Amino acid sequence: MVSSIFLISSAVSLAAAAPHLGHGFSKAFPVSNSATCSGITYINRGLVAYGTVAADARDKFGDTLGGFGSAAAPDVSSFTWTKNGTVKGTLFATPDRGWNTEGSIDYQARVHKFELSFNPTFDSIANATENLALNYQDTTLLFKGDQPTTGLDADYTIPASNDFPVLPAGKTSGNGTVPTLDQEGLVLLRDGSYWISDEYGPYIYHFTREGQMTVAIRPPQSLVPYTDGELAFTSGNPPVGSGLDEADDPDSGRATNHGFEGLAISTDERFLTAQLQEAAVQDGGTHATRQNNTRQLTYDVTIRDHPRLVSEYIVQQPGIFDPQEKKNPRATSISDIHYLSPHQFFTMTRDSGEYINFGSNTPSTYRHIDIVSHRDATNILDQEGPAAISIAPDGYLLPNLVVEDYCPFIDFNNATDLARFNLHNGGLPYATELNEKWESIAIIPVPYGAKGHGEKEFYIVSISDNDFITQDGYYDFGRKRYADASGEEVSTQVLVWQAHLPNYVPRV
Ligand SMILES: *[C@@H]1O[C@H](CO)[C@@H](O)[C@H](O)[C@H]1NC(C)=O
Ligand SMILES: *[C@@H]1O[C@H](CO)[C@@H](O)[C@H](O)[C@H]1NC(C)=O
Ligand SMILES: *[C@@H]1O[C@H](CO)[C@@H](O)[C@H](O)[C@H]1NC(C)=O
Ligand SMILES: *[C@@H]1O[C@H](CO)[C@@H](O)[C@H](O)[C@H]1NC(C)=O
Ligand SMILES: *[C@@H]1O[C@H](CO)[C@@H](O)[C@H](O)[C@H]1NC(C)=O
Repeated sequence: MVSSIFLISSAVSLAAAAPHLGHGFSKAFPVSNSATCSGITYINRGLVAYGTVAADARDKFGDTLGGFGSAAAPDVSSFTWTKNGTVKGTLFATPDRGWNTEGSIDYQARVHKFELSFNPTFDSIANATENLALNYQDTTLLFKGDQPTTGLDADYTIPASNDFPVLPAGKTSGNGTVPTLDQEGLVLLRDGSYWISDEYGPYIYHFTREGQMTVAIRPPQSLVPYTDGELAFTSGNPPVGSGLDEADDPDSGRATNHGFEGLAISTDERFLTAQLQEAAVQDGGTHATRQNNTRQLTYDVTIRDHPRLVSEYIVQQPGIFDPQEKKNPRATSISDIHYLSPHQFFTMTRDSGEYINFGSNTPSTYRHIDIVSHRDATNILDQEGPAAISIAPDGYLLPNLVVEDYCPFIDFNNATDLARFNLHNGGLPYATELNEKWESIAIIPVPYGAKGHGEKEFYIVSISDNDFITQDGYYDFGRKRYADASGEEVSTQVLVWQAHLPNYVPRV
């Protein structure tokens, strides 16, 4: 087993093919696969850790921890290595809007703090064991002034005031009409504060480390949802019993539930980049086979309360063939992004619907961490104006627009890798089936002294989003109980790969 993984010969041939990799590369770590993107060769060394968090785990307020894999950010400086092989440090993660499979609920947005620890291995782990633990530590609730935020559907707005744009809002029973967030992206800054992206706006918010909103970024008109000429932030998921309509997709702007899934910050904390999950409505965003031209926006946030939009590029998502669908190929969507260099990013790209809750044992076709580069792409920012613009009418990209380079890299569905951790893609048994939704990317340098330590070696952590599915769930600060109608208990899964990323400069 070991000899087939530690392929000295393949390391030598790769080094020969990519001489710029340098001496650090000559270490005989395993090679699962590699990708060359804009002249840089990245190496995946395979899965090194796996662990789970119970579906019914709760936070310090008594609420179900739930879908905190929506977004994760490590405190890189906290990671250490102990002689027994354990890599350990702090990771922050944010759940989306709370349990929402049966209508949206009044769930205050929050950021959880965990201690992540794992014993990385290039070998197989023993059957039914885990070599990773994510231990809950603390939670920070998010507020704007003295108003708590909520996760209720954005059926209301709060008018613009004091440097804040008009805000998507939900009507709570006890605290009035308050800002609502459906968080999907999290960035941790050196001062301990956060940028958080959301799906309702789709907006990007800055919160202090104590959880106070200080900035809200409203994107160009092309991305903000409009219906019949009016702002329409709703996601079509009103609370049960509210009497509100389940609204359709807007006429233009982000499609329902397809907001800023990806958020990333450059190492120098100057550039903040957000990406739409799929195409905007006017770019084919309501057609499963034509929603593949998505947008990536970058703000210069040097002056935090005066963010300046500096670029907008198009990423064309890979199409996949789904044997269960009549029309193919289907567009994949993104669930997170991460900076690698000033013009290169990791993107978490995947299909959806392959999941025990859909009553389907169909394996997933595409679940990757890929690499995109906007070095040679067209910056469409100058075309933005007072009204929404389309760059792909009905889903067909306009001529003369160059999209970002797209390079496939890490495959979650690699059966050999999964089997080493007793996991599988699709089918039975459910307990060891890989979860459907993977929505976060965190990068941690391999600590000095740890197994696998070398020049430009990194751990890549991803956490699944379980949609708060449990039979013993709680919300409203532990006062209300729920049992998800699916009858399922979906634990959160965590995966870690090791990779050689030659041009990534981590934050210190
Ligand atoms: C899958 O993973 C195994 C083990 O890491 C590796 O040897 C193999 O090359 C991978 N396959 C692909 C197609 O990446
Ligand atoms: C390794 O040591 C750390 C503390 O130094 C401890 O928390 C962890 O459980 C140990 N791991 C193993 C596998 O013994
Ligand atoms: C792992 O454990 C399961 C459940 O006990 C068993 O069915 C399976 O055969 C085991 N696999 C291996 C490779 O030992
Ligand atoms: C109002 O918000 C506060 C702060 O989160 C919370 O403690 C309280 O329970 C809420 N009140 C009601 C009636 O929901
Ligand atoms: C993606 O976009 C291109 C160009 O706009 C189009 O030809 C293709 O069919 C689209 N769909 C998929 C799923 O790839």
